[in-house]
Amino acid sequence: MTLIDGKATAAAIKAEIAEEVKQIVEAGGKRPHLAAILVGHDGGSETYVKNKVLACEACGFKSTLLRFEDDITEEFLLEQVDKLNKDADVDGFIVQLPLPKHISEQKVIEAIDYKKDVDGFHPINVGRMSIGLPCYISATPNGIMDLPARYNIETKGKRCVVLGRSNIVGKPMAQLMMQKRTPGDATVTVLHSHSENIKEICREADIIIAALGQPNFVTADMVKKGAVIIDVGTTRVPDATRKTGFRLNGDVKFDEVAPLCSYITPVPGGVGPMTICSLMKNTLSAGKKEFYK
Ligand code: GUN
Repeated sequence: MTLIDGKATAAAIKAEIAEEVKQIVEAGGKRPHLAAILVGHDGGSETYVKNKVLACEACGFKSTLLRFEDDITEEFLLEQVDKLNKDADVDGFIVQLPLPKHISEQKVIEAIDYKKDVDGFHPINVGRMSIGLPCYISATPNGIMDLPARYNIETKGKRCVVLGRSNIVGKPMAQLMMQKRTPGDATVTVLHSHSENIKEICREADIIIAALGQPNFVTADMVKKGAVIIDVGTTRVPDATRKTGFRLNGDVKFDEVAPLCSYITPVPGGVGPMTICSLMKNTLSAGKKEFYK
């Protein structure tokens, strides 16, 4: 069994990005600039955004964090999005989700200029991704797609089960794994809360990508010997032994599943660092106007 080290892989990719940024700036080019909007004080969102800002520093990007209280109106937030759309210095930006209940996330996502949508959530980017056109791809699936190449994992012709059908992970993950390219070319099955025979279908899989948000859902009796397991779960579960009072738990029962696998991602330290790294790759692309002028 090989443990996929997302932390080390992400560090290597960030070093590559930093080197490219250095060369761009030395040649007189513009330093890529990522802006982030954070609304409210959700603990998870605070951590994610802090890590995104730190990753920007590691890559040599400029970053701007705009913070607002959770009682702002939808109209006010849409105005801030419009300002960033029009700010020529900002190459790409994100609005951290979730948003307070009184604000429509879909409305906000659709208000973002798709040319600056480095999260890849705008319907134009989602549509372009699904037909294989250059675009921003959402960070988690894009980060996962870096792993087969870095670890020499074959996906072509393999049976891949994606557990979960969220817009941010499950659906784009399935699209990318089935695409006619390397990595990709897999035979993909998407399983969700209404699927039948989940255990039996998982047992046939060469690759399982678990993105349900249900701690320990994937157990040893669901995994074929030699399978590749990618665990996207990061549920906070109470843990009195930790200073924070919680730990991150994956969707895979790691201790019993790991001995069966050829490759497996740990939680934390697997998919998580790759996700932030993908946002950095998208920001570099935005700075270079790689997809859109
Ligand atoms: N909340 C959880 N994941 C993400 C992400 O990738 N982008 C944004 N904007 N919000 C999130």
